[in-house]
Amino acid sequence: MSKTSFCIANWKMNKTIQEATDYIEKINKMDLSKSSAKMIICPSYTNLNDLIRYENKINKITFGAQNVSSENKGSFTGEVSISMLESIGCSWVIIGHSERRLIMQEKDSEIARKIELVYNSTLNPILCIGETSAENKNGETHKVLERQINTAFEYLDFENNKEILIAYEPIWAIGTGTAADRKSIESNIKIIKNIINNINTKNCNIYLLYGGSVDENNASDIFSIDDVNGFLIGTSSLDVERFYDIYRQI
Ligand code: 13P
Repeated sequence: MSKTSFCIANWKMNKTIQEATDYIEKINKMDLSKSSAKMIICPSYTNLNDLIRYENKINKITFGAQNVSSENKGSFTGEVSISMLESIGCSWVIIGHSERRLIMQEKDSEIARKIELVYNSTLNPILCIGETSAENKNGETHKVLERQINTAFEYLDFENNKEILIAYEPIWAIGTGTAADRKSIESNIKIIKNIINNINTKNCNIYLLYGGSVDENNASDIFSIDDVNGFLIGTSSLDVERFYDIYRQI
C-alpha cells in the first residue's frame, strides 16, 4: 500500500503576484494524477489570498501560510492572525521554521502558543524542527529534537481531529544543495518517531516530513525511508518543473 504523502513548497520570501500566478497556472496544466501526494503551496501573505482561489479549480492543491502571529488580535504591527488566515480559507501554516527561530529569534514558548492557536482553528500545522550544525557535531540532536517537540505540543490535548505535520529540517542541510545523508535522516526520523510514540496523540494523525536540499535527484531515495511521508521544499520548489518532478516521484 502506498504511504500517505505530502509535497510542500515553501517559497519563503520569493515571487511577486504575477510570478506566483504564472506558476499556479502552469501547475494547473500538469498531470497531477501522477501522484497521490497532497500538494501544499506556501507563498507569501501577499500572494496567499489570490492563490487560494485556485483551490476550487484544482482540488489536488491546497495552500498554507509561512507563519502566523502568536497573538489573537490587536496592536502588533506587521503581524497576521490565525483568524485572518481562517477568513481567507487557508488550510495550513508553517510554524517554527529554523529561519524564524534563528533570524527572528522565535522562542520555543512562542512556537507553543502558535501551535495551540492553529490546533484550535480550521488550519493544520506544519511544525519545523531540526538541529544546528554545532548541535549535530556535539551529539545534541536527540536532546534538541525532544525539546522542540515537547515544548511545541505543551498546550495540546490532542482531542481534536487534526493532521499535524512535523518537518525534520536539519539546519546544516537547508539551502546548501546537499541533503542530509540517508543514515542521518533514518536515525533522526526514528528518534522523532520514538518521541511522538511517548505522547498520547489521541485523535491527531502525525506525519513526518524531511526538508533540506530536497531535489528531483534525491527525492525518491529519501522518500523510501520508513516514516518519511513527504517533503518540505525550499529552493527546488521555486521552479515549477522541478517541483512537479519531485511531486510525481512520491
Ligand atoms: P531548501 O530546500 O532550499 O534547502 O529549503 C528547505 C526549507 O527550509 C524548507 O522549509
